Amino acid sequence: MVDMDKIVSLCKRRGFIFQSSEIYGGLGSAWDYGPLGVELKNNVKRVWWRDNVHLRDDMVGLDAAITMHPKVWEASGHVASFSDPFTGCGDCGRHYRADQIVDAIWNSRWFRAFNKMLEGPAAKRDPRKAIENWIDSEGKKLAPNFPRNTVAEDIRLPLESANDPKFLQLLRVLAHSSNSNVMGFLCPNCGSGKLSNPKPASLMLETFLGPVQETATKTYLRPETAQGIFVNFDNVLQSMRKKLPFGIAQIGKAFRNEITPGNFTFRTREFEQMEIEYFVMPGTDEEWHQRWVDRRFAWYQQYGIRSESIRRRVHERDELAHYAKGCVDIEYLFPMGWSELEGIANRVDYDLKQHSQHSGRALEYFDEDTKQKIVPYVIEPSAGADRSTLAFLVDAYREEEVRGEKRVVLNFHPELAPIKIAVLPLLKKNDRIVETANKLTADLRKRWYTVYDDTASIGRLYRRQDEVGTPFCVTVDVQTVGDEKAGADEKVTIRDRNTMGQVRVAMTELPAVMEKLMAGQWAEIHAQHGVTKD
Ligand code: GAP
Repeated sequence: MVDMDKIVSLCKRRGFIFQSSEIYGGLGSAWDYGPLGVELKNNVKRVWWRDNVHLRDDMVGLDAAITMHPKVWEASGHVASFSDPFTGCGDCGRHYRADQIVDAIWNSRWFRAFNKMLEGPAAKRDPRKAIENWIDSEGKKLAPNFPRNTVAEDIRLPLESANDPKFLQLLRVLAHSSNSNVMGFLCPNCGSGKLSNPKPASLMLETFLGPVQETATKTYLRPETAQGIFVNFDNVLQSMRKKLPFGIAQIGKAFRNEITPGNFTFRTREFEQMEIEYFVMPGTDEEWHQRWVDRRFAWYQQYGIRSESIRRRVHERDELAHYAKGCVDIEYLFPMGWSELEGIANRVDYDLKQHSQHSGRALEYFDEDTKQKIVPYVIEPSAGADRSTLAFLVDAYREEEVRGEKRVVLNFHPELAPIKIAVLPLLKKNDRIVETANKLTADLRKRWYTVYDDTASIGRLYRRQDEVGTPFCVTVDVQTVGDEKAGADEKVTIRDRNTMGQVRVAMTELPAVMEKLMAGQWAEIHAQHGVTKD
Protein backbone atom coordinates (compact mmCIF):
# COMPACT_ATOMS: atom_id res chain seq x y z
CA MET A 1 0.00 0.00 0.00
CA VAL A 2 1.37 3.39 -1.00
CA ASP A 3 1.77 5.86 1.85
CA MET A 4 -0.16 9.12 1.81
CA ASP A 5 2.98 11.28 1.65
CA LYS A 6 3.82 9.83 -1.76
CA ILE A 7 0.33 10.58 -3.05
CA VAL A 8 0.41 14.14 -1.66
CA SER A 9 3.80 14.78 -3.20
CA LEU A 10 2.85 13.33 -6.60
CA CYS A 11 -0.37 15.37 -6.57
CA LYS A 12 1.56 18.57 -6.00
CA ARG A 13 4.40 17.79 -8.42
CA ARG A 14 2.13 16.81 -11.29
CA GLY A 15 -0.64 19.37 -10.87
CA PHE A 16 -3.41 17.28 -9.29
CA ILE A 17 -3.94 18.88 -5.88
CA PHE A 18 -2.33 21.86 -4.13
CA GLN A 19 -2.58 23.14 -0.56
CA SER A 20 -5.11 25.97 -0.46
CA SER A 21 -3.67 29.51 -0.14
CA GLU A 22 -0.18 28.04 -0.09
CA ILE A 23 1.60 31.37 -0.68
CA TYR A 24 0.09 32.59 2.61
CA GLY A 25 1.28 29.56 4.52
CA GLY A 26 -1.70 27.37 3.57
CA LEU A 27 -5.15 26.96 5.08
CA GLY A 28 -5.38 23.75 7.09
CA SER A 29 -7.77 21.21 5.64
CA ALA A 30 -8.52 23.04 2.37
CA TRP A 31 -7.16 21.81 -0.94
CA ASP A 32 -7.25 23.17 -4.50
CA TYR A 33 -7.58 20.87 -7.50
CA GLY A 34 -4.96 21.74 -10.11
CA PRO A 35 -5.20 21.29 -13.90
CA LEU A 36 -5.08 17.48 -13.79
CA GLY A 37 -6.96 17.14 -10.50
CA VAL A 38 -9.96 19.04 -11.81
CA GLU A 39 -10.06 16.77 -14.87
CA LEU A 40 -9.90 13.66 -12.68
CA LYS A 41 -12.56 14.84 -10.24
CA ASN A 42 -14.81 16.06 -13.08
CA ASN A 43 -14.50 12.63 -14.68
CA VAL A 44 -15.50 10.94 -11.42
CA LYS A 45 -18.54 13.20 -11.16
CA ARG A 46 -19.37 12.80 -14.86
CA VAL A 47 -19.42 8.98 -14.79
CA TRP A 48 -21.38 9.02 -11.52
CA TRP A 49 -23.99 11.32 -13.10
CA ARG A 50 -24.13 9.36 -16.34
CA ASP A 51 -24.48 5.99 -14.59
CA ASN A 52 -26.98 7.15 -11.96
CA VAL A 53 -29.04 9.71 -13.88
CA HIS A 54 -28.71 9.50 -17.67
CA LEU A 55 -28.67 5.73 -17.92
CA ARG A 56 -31.77 5.27 -15.75
CA ASP A 57 -35.44 6.03 -16.38
CA ASP A 58 -36.18 6.32 -12.70
CA MET A 59 -33.71 9.12 -11.86
CA VAL A 60 -33.57 12.88 -12.36
CA GLY A 61 -31.05 15.50 -11.29
CA LEU A 62 -31.09 18.66 -9.19
CA ASP A 63 -28.76 21.52 -8.30
CA ALA A 64 -30.08 23.26 -5.17
CA ALA A 65 -28.65 26.38 -3.52
CA ILE A 66 -25.93 25.98 -0.89
CA THR A 67 -27.59 28.51 1.41
CA MET A 68 -31.08 27.46 2.44
CA HIS A 69 -33.80 28.76 4.75
CA PRO A 70 -32.57 28.39 8.36
CA LYS A 71 -35.71 26.41 9.22
CA VAL A 72 -34.51 23.61 6.92
CA TRP A 73 -31.75 22.87 9.43
CA GLU A 74 -34.10 22.98 12.39
CA ALA A 75 -36.44 20.54 10.67
CA SER A 76 -33.66 18.20 9.62
CA GLY A 77 -32.33 18.05 13.20
CA HIS A 78 -28.92 19.47 12.28
CA VAL A 79 -29.15 22.60 14.46
CA ALA A 80 -29.96 20.58 17.55
CA SER A 81 -27.75 17.60 17.10
CA PHE A 82 -25.26 17.70 14.24
CA SER A 83 -22.18 17.64 16.42
CA ASP A 84 -19.18 15.52 17.30
CA PRO A 85 -17.70 15.06 20.76
CA PHE A 86 -14.40 16.85 21.07
CA THR A 87 -11.60 16.95 23.57
CA GLY A 88 -8.78 19.48 23.81
CA CYS A 89 -5.26 19.27 25.20
CA GLY A 90 -4.61 21.49 28.22
CA ASP A 91 -0.93 21.77 27.28
CA CYS A 92 -0.61 22.20 23.50
CA GLY A 93 -4.19 23.32 22.76
CA ARG A 94 -4.87 20.78 19.96
CA HIS A 95 -8.44 19.49 19.50
CA TYR A 96 -9.49 15.95 18.70
CA ARG A 97 -12.64 13.97 17.99
CA ALA A 98 -13.08 12.23 21.34
CA ASP A 99 -14.52 9.16 19.59
CA GLN A 100 -11.42 8.88 17.40
CA ILE A 101 -8.81 9.40 20.04
CA VAL A 102 -7.61 5.79 19.99
CA ASP A 103 -6.80 6.04 16.28
CA ALA A 104 -5.23 9.48 16.72
CA ILE A 105 -2.88 8.18 19.41
CA TRP A 106 -2.20 5.00 17.49
CA ASN A 107 -1.12 7.01 14.44
CA SER A 108 0.87 9.61 16.37
CA ARG A 109 4.63 9.78 15.91
CA TRP A 110 5.38 9.59 19.62
CA PHE A 111 3.23 6.52 20.16
CA ARG A 112 4.92 4.63 17.36
CA ALA A 113 8.35 5.54 18.70
CA PHE A 114 7.30 4.68 22.27
CA ASN A 115 6.06 1.27 21.21
CA LYS A 116 9.21 0.56 19.27
CA MET A 117 11.21 1.37 22.38
CA LEU A 118 9.00 -0.96 24.46
CA GLU A 119 9.74 -3.79 22.05
CA GLY A 120 13.49 -3.25 22.30
CA PRO A 121 15.99 -5.16 24.47
CA ALA A 122 16.53 -2.26 26.92
CA ALA A 123 12.82 -2.23 27.85
CA LYS A 124 12.81 -6.02 28.20
CA ARG A 125 15.70 -5.76 30.68
CA ASP A 126 14.50 -2.77 32.69
CA PRO A 127 11.25 -1.21 31.44
CA ARG A 128 11.15 1.70 33.89
CA LYS A 129 14.64 2.79 33.10
CA ALA A 130 14.02 2.43 29.35
CA ILE A 131 10.93 4.65 29.58
CA GLU A 132 12.80 7.25 31.61
CA ASN A 133 15.60 7.28 29.06
CA TRP A 134 13.09 7.58 26.25
CA ILE A 135 11.39 10.56 27.94
CA ASP A 136 14.76 12.29 28.20
CA SER A 137 15.83 11.56 24.64
CA GLU A 138 13.42 10.85 21.74
CA GLY A 139 10.35 11.59 23.86
CA LYS A 140 11.61 15.12 24.55
CA LYS A 141 11.14 15.98 20.87
CA LEU A 142 8.15 13.84 19.99
CA ALA A 143 6.09 14.09 23.18
CA PRO A 144 7.47 16.96 25.27
CA ASN A 145 4.55 16.85 27.73
CA PHE A 146 4.58 13.10 28.33
CA PRO A 147 3.82 12.57 32.04
CA ARG A 148 6.93 11.58 33.96
CA ASN A 149 5.06 9.33 36.35
CA THR A 150 4.36 7.04 33.42
CA VAL A 151 7.30 5.16 34.76
CA ALA A 152 5.64 4.66 38.13
CA GLU A 153 4.15 1.26 37.44
CA ASP A 154 5.16 -1.97 35.80
CA ILE A 155 4.46 -1.92 32.07
CA ARG A 156 3.68 -5.60 31.61
CA LEU A 157 -0.06 -5.89 32.12
CA PRO A 158 -1.89 -9.20 31.90
CA LEU A 159 -3.93 -8.11 28.87
CA GLU A 160 -3.22 -10.96 26.50
CA SER A 161 -6.92 -11.76 26.35
CA ALA A 162 -7.90 -8.38 24.85
CA ASN A 163 -9.06 -8.69 21.23
CA ASP A 164 -8.15 -5.34 19.76
CA PRO A 165 -4.38 -5.10 19.47
CA LYS A 166 -4.54 -1.31 19.15
CA PHE A 167 -6.45 -0.97 22.35
CA LEU A 168 -4.23 -3.41 24.13
CA GLN A 169 -1.15 -1.45 23.19
CA LEU A 170 -2.77 1.80 24.22
CA LEU A 171 -3.70 0.42 27.59
CA ARG A 172 -0.12 -0.65 28.10
CA VAL A 173 0.94 2.93 27.66
CA LEU A 174 -1.94 4.60 29.38
CA ALA A 175 -1.78 2.43 32.42
CA HIS A 176 1.46 4.23 33.14
CA SER A 177 0.18 7.74 32.94
CA SER A 178 -1.60 7.87 36.24
CA ASN A 179 -2.12 11.62 35.94
CA SER A 180 -3.89 11.42 32.58
CA ASN A 181 -7.49 12.25 33.34
CA VAL A 182 -11.05 11.20 32.47
CA MET A 183 -10.50 9.14 29.37
CA GLY A 184 -7.07 8.21 30.56
CA PHE A 185 -5.60 9.04 27.18
CA LEU A 186 -2.54 11.05 26.26
CA CYS A 187 -2.46 13.88 23.73
CA PRO A 188 -1.57 12.49 20.27
CA ASN A 189 0.43 15.65 19.57
CA CYS A 190 2.46 16.35 22.71
CA GLY A 191 1.87 13.31 24.95
CA SER A 192 0.29 15.40 27.72
CA GLY A 193 -2.11 13.77 30.15
CA LYS A 194 -4.34 16.84 30.24
CA LEU A 195 -7.08 16.04 27.76
CA SER A 196 -10.38 17.73 28.62
CA ASN A 197 -13.72 16.03 29.22
CA PRO A 198 -15.45 15.30 25.88
CA LYS A 199 -18.02 17.95 24.90
CA PRO A 200 -20.24 18.22 21.80
CA ALA A 201 -19.07 20.70 19.12
CA SER A 202 -21.50 21.75 16.37
CA LEU A 203 -20.32 20.94 12.88
CA MET A 204 -22.52 23.62 11.29
CA LEU A 205 -20.75 26.55 9.62
CA GLU A 206 -22.77 29.70 10.27
CA THR A 207 -23.09 32.48 7.76
CA PHE A 208 -25.01 35.75 7.54
CA LEU A 209 -26.99 36.78 4.48
CA GLY A 210 -27.32 40.55 4.15
CA PRO A 211 -25.02 43.58 4.41
CA VAL A 212 -25.50 44.38 8.12
CA GLN A 213 -24.73 41.47 10.39
CA GLU A 214 -27.17 42.53 13.18
CA THR A 215 -30.19 42.48 10.85
CA ALA A 216 -28.96 39.81 8.47
CA THR A 217 -30.45 36.32 8.28
CA LYS A 218 -28.31 33.82 10.08
CA THR A 219 -28.15 30.56 8.23
CA TYR A 220 -25.67 27.80 7.55
CA LEU A 221 -23.58 26.53 4.71
CA ARG A 222 -25.25 23.19 4.01
CA PRO A 223 -23.56 20.27 5.77
CA GLU A 224 -25.03 17.82 3.22
CA THR A 225 -26.69 18.17 -0.17
CA ALA A 226 -29.51 15.81 0.83
CA GLN A 227 -31.81 18.42 2.37
CA GLY A 228 -31.92 20.37 -0.91
CA ILE A 229 -33.47 17.26 -2.43
CA PHE A 230 -36.04 16.69 0.33
CA VAL A 231 -37.34 20.27 0.25
CA ASN A 232 -37.74 20.01 -3.55
CA PHE A 233 -39.50 16.63 -3.43
CA ASP A 234 -42.89 18.08 -4.37
CA ASN A 235 -41.49 20.42 -7.05
CA VAL A 236 -39.79 17.52 -8.79
CA LEU A 237 -42.77 15.20 -8.38
CA GLN A 238 -45.19 17.76 -9.89
CA SER A 239 -42.95 18.99 -12.69
CA MET A 240 -41.52 15.64 -13.79
CA ARG A 241 -44.59 13.44 -13.14
CA LYS A 242 -42.46 10.66 -11.65
CA LYS A 243 -43.92 7.43 -10.32
CA LEU A 244 -42.52 5.53 -7.34
CA PRO A 245 -39.89 4.26 -7.14
CA PHE A 246 -37.82 7.20 -8.38
CA GLY A 247 -34.75 9.08 -7.29
CA ILE A 248 -33.25 12.55 -7.32
CA ALA A 249 -29.48 12.94 -7.66
CA GLN A 250 -27.36 15.91 -6.77
CA ILE A 251 -23.67 16.77 -6.79
CA GLY A 252 -22.50 19.77 -4.83
CA LYS A 253 -20.41 21.35 -2.14
CA ALA A 254 -21.06 20.72 1.55
CA PHE A 255 -19.40 22.27 4.58
CA ARG A 256 -18.69 20.93 8.05
CA ASN A 257 -16.65 22.47 10.81
CA GLU A 258 -14.76 19.21 11.33
CA ILE A 259 -12.78 19.02 14.57
CA THR A 260 -9.95 17.04 13.08
CA PRO A 261 -9.77 17.40 9.33
CA GLY A 262 -6.89 15.49 7.84
CA ASN A 263 -5.51 12.65 5.77
CA PHE A 264 -5.20 14.91 2.74
CA THR A 265 -8.59 15.34 1.02
CA PHE A 266 -10.19 12.53 3.02
CA ARG A 267 -11.66 14.80 5.68
CA THR A 268 -11.93 18.51 4.95
CA ARG A 269 -14.22 21.32 6.05
CA GLU A 270 -15.33 22.03 2.49
CA PHE A 271 -16.00 19.02 0.28
CA GLU A 272 -18.23 17.76 -2.46
CA GLN A 273 -20.92 15.12 -2.18
CA MET A 274 -22.66 12.96 -4.78
CA GLU A 275 -25.99 12.06 -3.23
CA ILE A 276 -29.10 10.19 -4.28
CA GLU A 277 -32.42 10.20 -2.47
CA TYR A 278 -34.36 7.25 -3.85
CA PHE A 279 -38.07 7.30 -2.94
CA VAL A 280 -39.82 3.95 -2.61
CA MET A 281 -43.08 2.43 -1.39
CA PRO A 282 -42.88 1.59 2.31
CA GLY A 283 -42.48 -2.16 2.52
CA THR A 284 -40.17 -2.31 -0.52
CA ASP A 285 -37.45 -0.29 1.23
CA GLU A 286 -35.28 -3.16 2.45
CA GLU A 287 -35.12 -4.74 -0.98
CA TRP A 288 -34.19 -1.39 -2.55
CA HIS A 289 -31.63 -0.75 0.14
CA GLN A 290 -29.88 -4.01 -0.72
CA ARG A 291 -30.05 -3.27 -4.44
CA TRP A 292 -28.43 0.12 -3.98
CA VAL A 293 -25.69 -1.31 -1.77
CA ASP A 294 -24.85 -3.92 -4.43
CA ARG A 295 -25.01 -1.41 -7.23
CA ARG A 296 -22.81 1.18 -5.55
CA PHE A 297 -20.32 -1.48 -4.44
CA ALA A 298 -19.98 -2.70 -8.03
CA TRP A 299 -19.65 0.87 -9.36
CA TYR A 300 -16.27 1.52 -7.72
CA GLN A 301 -14.90 -1.73 -9.09
CA GLN A 302 -16.25 -0.96 -12.55
CA TYR A 303 -13.87 2.02 -12.61
CA GLY A 304 -10.85 0.14 -11.41
CA ILE A 305 -10.91 -0.15 -7.61
CA ARG A 306 -9.36 -3.53 -6.75
CA SER A 307 -11.73 -5.96 -5.05
CA GLU A 308 -9.30 -6.49 -2.15
CA SER A 309 -9.30 -2.75 -1.35
CA ILE A 310 -13.05 -2.31 -0.92
CA ARG A 311 -15.56 -3.80 1.50
CA ARG A 312 -19.05 -3.30 2.93
CA ARG A 313 -19.65 -2.67 6.60
CA VAL A 314 -23.12 -3.01 8.07
CA HIS A 315 -23.76 -0.47 10.85
CA GLU A 316 -24.44 -1.86 14.30
CA ARG A 317 -27.76 -0.87 15.88
CA ASP A 318 -26.08 1.58 18.29
CA GLU A 319 -24.28 3.35 15.43
CA LEU A 320 -27.44 4.17 13.49
CA ALA A 321 -28.93 7.66 13.42
CA HIS A 322 -32.17 7.60 15.43
CA TYR A 323 -34.31 7.81 12.27
CA ALA A 324 -32.40 5.25 10.18
CA LYS A 325 -33.62 1.70 9.78
CA GLY A 326 -30.30 0.48 8.42
CA CYS A 327 -27.03 1.70 6.98
CA VAL A 328 -24.19 0.06 5.08
CA ASP A 329 -20.88 1.81 4.54
CA ILE A 330 -18.70 1.12 1.56
CA GLU A 331 -15.16 1.30 2.91
CA TYR A 332 -11.88 1.64 1.07
CA LEU A 333 -8.46 0.61 2.30
CA PHE A 334 -6.85 4.07 2.36
CA PRO A 335 -3.20 4.42 3.43
CA MET A 336 -4.41 5.20 6.99
CA GLY A 337 -6.63 2.08 7.09
CA TRP A 338 -10.18 1.06 6.20
CA SER A 339 -12.35 4.20 6.06
CA GLU A 340 -15.76 5.23 4.77
CA LEU A 341 -16.11 6.05 1.10
CA GLU A 342 -19.88 6.09 0.89
CA GLY A 343 -22.82 5.43 3.20
CA ILE A 344 -26.08 3.88 1.99
CA ALA A 345 -28.83 4.50 4.51
CA ASN A 346 -32.49 3.59 4.78
CA ARG A 347 -33.90 6.89 6.14
CA VAL A 348 -37.53 5.71 6.03
CA ASP A 349 -40.01 8.65 5.94
CA TYR A 350 -38.20 10.77 8.54
CA ASP A 351 -37.04 13.67 6.35
CA LEU A 352 -40.21 14.19 4.32
CA LYS A 353 -42.30 14.06 7.51
CA GLN A 354 -40.03 16.51 9.33
CA HIS A 355 -40.18 19.03 6.48
CA SER A 356 -43.96 18.61 6.17
CA GLN A 357 -44.35 19.33 9.84
CA HIS A 358 -42.04 22.36 9.92
CA SER A 359 -43.12 23.94 6.62
CA GLY A 360 -46.83 23.14 6.80
CA ARG A 361 -46.67 21.75 3.23
CA ALA A 362 -47.69 18.15 2.64
CA LEU A 363 -44.90 16.13 1.09
CA GLU A 364 -46.81 13.11 -0.11
CA TYR A 365 -47.27 10.84 -3.07
CA PHE A 366 -50.66 9.87 -4.48
CA ASP A 367 -50.75 6.17 -5.19
CA GLU A 368 -53.02 5.64 -8.23
CA ASP A 369 -53.52 1.95 -7.42
CA THR A 370 -54.78 2.29 -3.88
CA LYS A 371 -56.05 5.91 -4.32
CA GLN A 372 -54.21 6.79 -1.14
CA LYS A 373 -51.67 9.39 -0.20
CA ILE A 374 -48.49 8.00 1.25
CA VAL A 375 -45.19 9.37 2.49
CA PRO A 376 -42.49 7.44 0.60
CA TYR A 377 -39.51 5.86 2.30
CA VAL A 378 -36.06 6.97 1.24
CA ILE A 379 -32.89 5.04 0.41
CA GLU A 380 -29.87 7.33 0.39
CA PRO A 381 -26.62 6.37 -1.32
CA SER A 382 -24.35 9.24 -0.23
CA ALA A 383 -20.83 9.40 -1.65
CA GLY A 384 -18.01 11.92 -1.42
CA ALA A 385 -16.59 13.22 -4.70
CA ASP A 386 -13.27 14.07 -3.04
CA ARG A 387 -13.01 10.78 -1.20
CA SER A 388 -13.84 8.80 -4.34
CA THR A 389 -11.25 10.80 -6.28
CA LEU A 390 -8.68 10.09 -3.56
CA ALA A 391 -9.54 6.38 -3.57
CA PHE A 392 -9.19 6.20 -7.37
CA LEU A 393 -5.81 7.96 -7.09
CA VAL A 394 -4.49 5.71 -4.33
CA ASP A 395 -5.73 2.58 -6.05
CA ALA A 396 -4.19 3.55 -9.37
CA TYR A 397 -0.71 4.17 -7.92
CA ARG A 398 1.95 1.65 -8.96
CA GLU A 399 5.72 1.59 -8.72
CA GLU A 400 7.60 -0.78 -11.00
CA GLU A 401 11.16 -1.39 -12.05
CA VAL A 402 11.77 -1.15 -15.77
CA ARG A 403 15.29 -1.79 -17.03
CA GLY A 404 16.76 -0.85 -13.67
CA GLU A 405 14.75 2.37 -13.35
CA LYS A 406 11.73 3.15 -11.22
CA ARG A 407 8.53 3.69 -13.20
CA VAL A 408 5.61 5.36 -11.42
CA VAL A 409 2.26 4.71 -13.07
CA LEU A 410 -1.26 5.86 -12.32
CA ASN A 411 -3.24 3.02 -13.70
CA PHE A 412 -6.51 4.96 -14.16
CA HIS A 413 -9.52 3.59 -15.98
CA PRO A 414 -9.60 5.46 -19.34
CA GLU A 415 -12.91 7.10 -18.37
CA LEU A 416 -11.25 8.65 -15.30
CA ALA A 417 -7.81 9.49 -16.69
CA PRO A 418 -7.36 13.29 -16.76
CA ILE A 419 -5.60 13.18 -20.14
CA LYS A 420 -6.75 10.47 -22.53
CA ILE A 421 -4.10 10.79 -25.25
CA ALA A 422 -0.70 12.49 -25.49
CA VAL A 423 0.64 13.16 -28.98
CA LEU A 424 4.44 13.15 -28.99
CA PRO A 425 6.64 14.14 -31.94
CA LEU A 426 9.79 12.04 -32.10
CA LEU A 427 11.87 14.92 -33.46
CA LYS A 428 10.77 18.41 -32.59
CA LYS A 429 13.12 19.97 -35.14
CA ASN A 430 11.42 18.20 -38.06
CA ASP A 431 8.70 20.61 -39.25
CA ARG A 432 6.66 17.95 -40.95
CA ILE A 433 6.58 15.78 -37.84
CA VAL A 434 5.57 18.73 -35.66
CA GLU A 435 2.91 19.90 -38.10
CA THR A 436 1.42 16.39 -38.38
CA ALA A 437 1.48 15.93 -34.59
CA ASN A 438 -0.26 19.26 -34.05
CA LYS A 439 -2.93 18.43 -36.58
CA LEU A 440 -3.50 15.01 -34.98
CA THR A 441 -3.81 16.66 -31.57
CA ALA A 442 -6.42 19.09 -32.86
CA ASP A 443 -8.40 16.26 -34.48
CA LEU A 444 -8.28 13.89 -31.50
CA ARG A 445 -9.20 16.70 -29.09
CA LYS A 446 -12.67 16.91 -30.58
CA ARG A 447 -13.40 13.49 -29.10
CA TRP A 448 -10.89 12.97 -26.24
CA TYR A 449 -8.89 15.33 -24.06
CA THR A 450 -5.54 15.23 -25.88
CA VAL A 451 -2.30 17.09 -25.22
CA TYR A 452 0.78 17.71 -27.35
CA ASP A 453 4.20 17.55 -25.68
CA ASP A 454 7.64 17.96 -27.19
CA THR A 455 9.56 19.20 -24.16
CA ALA A 456 11.78 16.15 -23.55
CA SER A 457 13.11 12.95 -25.08
CA ILE A 458 10.54 10.31 -25.99
CA GLY A 459 11.46 8.02 -23.07
CA ARG A 460 11.03 10.83 -20.59
CA LEU A 461 7.77 11.95 -22.19
CA TYR A 462 6.38 8.41 -21.83
CA ARG A 463 7.33 8.31 -18.14
CA ARG A 464 5.71 11.70 -17.54
CA GLN A 465 2.46 10.54 -19.10
CA ASP A 466 2.66 7.27 -17.09
CA GLU A 467 2.92 9.28 -13.90
CA VAL A 468 -0.28 11.22 -14.62
CA GLY A 469 -2.13 8.15 -15.85
CA THR A 470 -2.53 8.93 -19.57
CA PRO A 471 -3.67 5.61 -21.05
CA PHE A 472 -2.29 6.12 -24.58
CA CYS A 473 0.53 8.04 -26.26
CA VAL A 474 0.64 8.56 -30.02
CA THR A 475 4.07 9.08 -31.53
CA VAL A 476 4.71 10.71 -34.88
CA ASP A 477 8.10 9.82 -36.38
CA VAL A 478 10.12 10.11 -39.60
CA GLN A 479 8.35 7.13 -41.22
CA THR A 480 5.01 8.80 -40.59
CA VAL A 481 5.91 11.84 -42.70
CA GLY A 482 8.71 10.40 -44.87
CA ASP A 483 12.10 11.86 -45.80
CA GLU A 484 14.44 11.98 -48.77
CA LYS A 485 15.10 8.20 -48.45
CA ALA A 486 11.55 6.91 -48.12
CA GLY A 487 8.02 8.08 -48.64
CA ALA A 488 5.57 8.69 -45.81
CA ASP A 489 3.82 5.58 -44.45
CA GLU A 490 1.20 7.83 -42.80
CA LYS A 491 1.18 5.56 -39.75
CA VAL A 492 1.69 6.43 -36.09
CA THR A 493 2.71 4.41 -33.04
CA ILE A 494 0.25 4.02 -30.19
CA ARG A 495 1.83 3.11 -26.88
CA ASP A 496 -0.20 1.54 -24.07
CA ARG A 497 0.52 2.84 -20.55
CA ASN A 498 -0.08 -0.42 -18.69
CA THR A 499 1.83 -2.92 -20.83
CA MET A 500 4.16 -0.40 -22.53
CA GLY A 501 3.36 -2.39 -25.69
CA GLN A 502 3.10 -0.55 -29.00
CA VAL A 503 0.99 -0.84 -32.14
CA ARG A 504 1.46 0.92 -35.46
CA VAL A 505 -1.71 2.05 -37.21
CA ALA A 506 -2.65 4.23 -40.17
CA MET A 507 -3.58 7.78 -39.17
CA THR A 508 -6.89 7.40 -40.96
CA GLU A 509 -7.71 4.46 -38.70
CA LEU A 510 -6.68 6.26 -35.50
CA PRO A 511 -10.13 7.46 -34.30
CA ALA A 512 -11.70 4.02 -34.78
CA VAL A 513 -8.76 2.25 -33.10
CA MET A 514 -8.79 4.75 -30.20
CA GLU A 515 -12.50 4.15 -29.70
CA LYS A 516 -11.75 0.43 -29.21
CA LEU A 517 -8.74 1.07 -26.99
CA MET A 518 -10.70 3.37 -24.71
CA ALA A 519 -13.26 0.57 -24.38
CA GLY A 520 -10.52 -1.77 -23.12
CA GLN A 521 -9.71 -3.70 -26.31
CA TRP A 522 -5.92 -3.34 -26.17
CA ALA A 523 -5.30 -7.10 -26.41
CA GLU A 524 -7.22 -7.44 -29.69
CA ILE A 525 -5.66 -4.36 -31.26
CA HIS A 526 -2.21 -5.48 -30.14
CA ALA A 527 -2.74 -8.93 -31.62
CA GLN A 528 -3.57 -7.28 -34.98
CA HIS A 529 -0.94 -4.54 -35.14
CA GLY A 530 1.50 -5.21 -32.26
CA VAL A 531 5.15 -4.20 -32.36
CA THR A 532 7.90 -4.00 -29.74
CA LYS A 533 7.86 -2.37 -26.29
CA ASP A 534 9.42 1.04 -25.57
N1 GAP B 1 -26.65 12.81 3.65
C1 GAP B 1 -25.92 11.82 4.35
C2 GAP B 1 -24.55 12.21 4.64
O1 GAP B 1 -24.16 13.36 4.43
P1 GAP B 1 -22.30 11.32 5.58
O2 GAP B 1 -21.86 9.90 5.86
O3 GAP B 1 -22.15 12.31 6.65
O4 GAP B 1 -23.80 11.19 5.10
C3 GAP B 1 -21.61 11.11 3.08
O5 GAP B 1 -21.52 11.81 4.29
C4 GAP B 1 -20.26 11.07 2.38
O6 GAP B 1 -19.74 12.40 2.25
C5 GAP B 1 -19.17 10.32 3.16
O7 GAP B 1 -19.25 8.93 2.92
C6 GAP B 1 -17.92 10.93 2.58
O8 GAP B 1 -17.58 10.32 1.35
C7 GAP B 1 -18.33 12.37 2.33
N2 GAP B 1 -17.89 13.23 3.45
C8 GAP B 1 -18.51 13.44 4.62
N3 GAP B 1 -17.81 14.30 5.40
C9 GAP B 1 -16.70 14.63 4.70
C10 GAP B 1 -15.57 15.48 4.95
N4 GAP B 1 -15.47 16.18 6.07
N5 GAP B 1 -14.61 15.57 4.01
C11 GAP B 1 -14.70 14.87 2.84
N6 GAP B 1 -15.75 14.07 2.54
C12 GAP B 1 -16.74 13.94 3.45
